[in-house]
Amino acid sequence: MGIMGMQRKIIFATGNADKMKEIRKILEDLPAEVMSMKEAGIDVEVEENGTTFEENAILKAKAVAKAAGTIVLADDSGLEIDRLGGEPGVYSARYMGEDTSYRIKNKNLIDRLEGVVKEERTARFVCAIAAVFPDGSVETATAAVEGYIGYEERGENGFGYDPIFYLWESDLSTAQLGMEEKNEISHRGKALKMIKEKLKDVLEA
Ligand code: IMP
Repeated sequence: MGIMGMQRKIIFATGNADKMKEIRKILEDLPAEVMSMKEAGIDVEVEENGTTFEENAILKAKAVAKAAGTIVLADDSGLEIDRLGGEPGVYSARYMGEDTSYRIKNKNLIDRLEGVVKEERTARFVCAIAAVFPDGSVETATAAVEGYIGYEERGENGFGYDPIFYLWESDLSTAQLGMEEKNEISHRGKALKMIKEKLKDVLEA
């Protein structure tokens, strides 16, 4: 399925500038222009009422694809903490309220794990990416990075829960990694690389 004569434009359905930076970096060598919704002049509100990351990613990409007529990618991601029954999970952005600062959210999660030993603080960032093509077909990719919730916030990079999410190998938080280092191992980096292979096939067909 080529996109014959179509503009080689890919819209990434997110309003999150931090995510957009990571995404652009990973997709920079694709033969297509990667635009945010804002750059594409599209403004749609999507209710993320799916129960899985994958469902939400598909919901978002389809809603935007309707308005766009080009390839649309969307992601849904979040943090799962085993000891908290998988919370905040698909509610990661909405946890304690969308407008609550991550200082407060992160502190709250550390408090909820008080007295829990490192081995039982297991957690993962999960990312599902959906690509919707102009002919309506859908491809998805889901990936995760395993780690644990630390005892304090560390690092200034990244966003969201990065300061409390630590990697087993290095005991560094993902907020202590540079963007390229994080993209190399992250849930979003891995899922994007998987979807990128599928996009290459379409763009080069
Ligand atoms: P989404 O925009 O609905 O996918 O919400 C994702 C939420 O999960 C973000 O707002 C963050 O709270 C959290 N999250 C996802 N990926 C990351 C990451 O790479 N670092 C830190 N937090 C993340």
